[in-house]
Amino acid sequence: MTNIADIQKAAAILESGGLVAFPTETVYGLGADAENTEATAKIYAVKERPADHPLIVHLAPEADIGRWAREVPIEAEKLIAAFWPGPLTLILKRAERVPAAVAGGQDTVGLRCPSHPVAQALLRAFRQGQGGVAAPSANKFGHVSPTTAQHVRDEFGADERIGMILDGGQSEVGIESTILDLSRVGTHGPVLLRPGHVGTRAIASVLGIEPAKADSAAPRASGTLEAHYAPMTPVMIVSTSELRQTLRKMVRAMRLVAVLRYSPIPLPDALTQIGLPDTPEAYAHELYASLRALDEVRADLILVEAPPEDAGWEAVNDRLRRAAHGTGAGMGRYLASRFLS
Ligand code: TXA
Ligand code: MG
Repeated sequence: MTNIADIQKAAAILESGGLVAFPTETVYGLGADAENTEATAKIYAVKERPADHPLIVHLAPEADIGRWAREVPIEAEKLIAAFWPGPLTLILKRAERVPAAVAGGQDTVGLRCPSHPVAQALLRAFRQGQGGVAAPSANKFGHVSPTTAQHVRDEFGADERIGMILDGGQSEVGIESTILDLSRVGTHGPVLLRPGHVGTRAIASVLGIEPAKADSAAPRASGTLEAHYAPMTPVMIVSTSELRQTLRKMVRAMRLVAVLRYSPIPLPDALTQIGLPDTPEAYAHELYASLRALDEVRADLILVEAPPEDAGWEAVNDRLRRAAHGTGAGMGRYLASRFLS
């Protein structure tokens, strides 16, 4: 685990323009000095991420948000009071001094104050707590986000461009932060770009208005691409009632099938299976580690039991849909059509 000497070393690496992977309560991030364009360029290179995809800037709890956003609407102030530090990213109009590169060239900036103690210690040590650490999830573009330090090592191996990986245990939330666009709040109201642990109801209870779903004019977010958060193995989502029968047909067709379920009863035909908890918070906490583990058995297919459609499961369903969409150009559906006729 991480001690204070590690934090100081990591802050020095960031200050000299290097990269540090660090834990947050959502997923692990790959951080660089947000005000150093050469440093943020390294993030794009290591992640193999297109340069027009904006990064989230992470701030210490004491940071001056006015240094980063040129307008802080009352809606932002209310949400910050309610949910920071925590898994909520706000998109605001970018202050002029903040390099456009960190925002993928957009006029806005994504800001978040993480609650993980190691992330907070790092942000406080870095530039006396007044800097910003730009950090996307610490995975190759399009892959499953890491929720442990070992996942980060698995993802990047011994890439010497990453100066240090801080270990803060398994991320509590397990899926990426909620992203809410407030950059056009005066004209469009709050717009949800990515669902997460801070749900639409919780946001509505603070703002007195439900956030709208993203429209085509909303700022682009790579985490909102249809194909994202994907393992290598094709993923197919089926309802609880179809799960057993689908599996049996696949196995009869000599397919090796890994199963991710939340119904408690094990399925005898699966090559391997993981049973997740049946509450959305506990499910999300385990989701990415489970997808990684099932990916490693190199089955022909990962069959996922569709979780309920209730509002509480919105973020989990969003990530599962993207994982299924992103795998081998619809391979899950292809396999299904070939073997399930
Ligand atoms: O939980 C999280 O948000 C994690 C941890 C490390 O904080 N970070 C994360 O970063 O998920 P990343 O880069 O994998 O996803 C951030 C998303 C991207 O889809 C990006 O496009 C969007 O945030 N984003 C960042 N700044 C934006 C902006 N100015 N306008 C629109 N979208 C933005
Ligand atoms: Mg990501």
